[in-house]
Amino acid sequence: MQTKNTTADFFLDLSLKKKCPEITVSRKDQGYQLEHKKKNMNFILVLDDYEKIVSQNKSHIFNKIFKKRNLNILDCTGGFARDACIISSLGNKVTLIENNPIVSIILRDAIKNIQSNKIQTIFDKILVRFGNCLDFIRQTDKFYDYIYFDFMFNVSKSALPSKRDQFLRKITTNNIEINKEIIKETLQRKNCKIIIKEHIKSNDYMDLNIITTYKEKIVKYTLVDNNK
Ligand SMILES: C[S@@+](CC[C@H](N)C(=O)[O-])C[C@H]1O[C@@H](n2cnc3c(N)ncnc32)[C@H](O)[C@@H]1O
Repeated sequence: MQTKNTTADFFLDLSLKKKCPEITVSRKDQGYQLEHKKKNMNFILVLDDYEKIVSQNKSHIFNKIFKKRNLNILDCTGGFARDACIISSLGNKVTLIENNPIVSIILRDAIKNIQSNKIQTIFDKILVRFGNCLDFIRQTDKFYDYIYFDFMFNVSKSALPSKRDQFLRKITTNNIEINKEIIKETLQRKNCKIIIKEHIKSNDYMDLNIITTYKEKIVKYTLVDNNK
């Protein structure tokens, strides 16, 4: 890194060396830059870049899924907060949980570096928490209108994921059996609707009480509840 002067910088550097040594990190004016030298690929999480998608939020499928406004949404798989940003931009309050420390540090740093007033207003309505979503669900008595899950899914062969998603995939871990258990326990504990984002061809949650499925070309959003 160019300036290793904060604890977060050190931690990020060491964590990446351990988790994915092929990725290096350096600090730039816009935020942390991740670099995958072999793939000749680098990435900085710049949340101002979400302006375009937010400006088209009315045509986003979330606008169909969340029919009301002022909803309390728990985003259990925060990642780089793209989905949380769209959901918040539609007039909802979002609590975002992320359990990967590398992702969490990069996200918090990116939030500090927001320049756009529009994006800042949207992130002002997103509460960011570090930790395992199941731990959070076990201890909170707050009511959420919807609980949202977007666990990592396999790469679609027909489309190359964005650089953001490629780096996210490298940094994070995923276990479908653990994910299923998290959703089952959430359904037992919380009396609200759950939305699961999946690859269009995934059938991992067929045994749940599916209310409806919103389909797009590559992904689908499955709405489930605990009425079974
Ligand atoms: C596919 S990404 C989510 C992308 C996100 N929806 C976005 O728009 O940027 C999945 C994220 O969920 C996180 N995650 C997985 N299991 C989790 C858990 N049990 N608790 C909290 N976060 C989790 C991963 O670390 C990863 O960052």
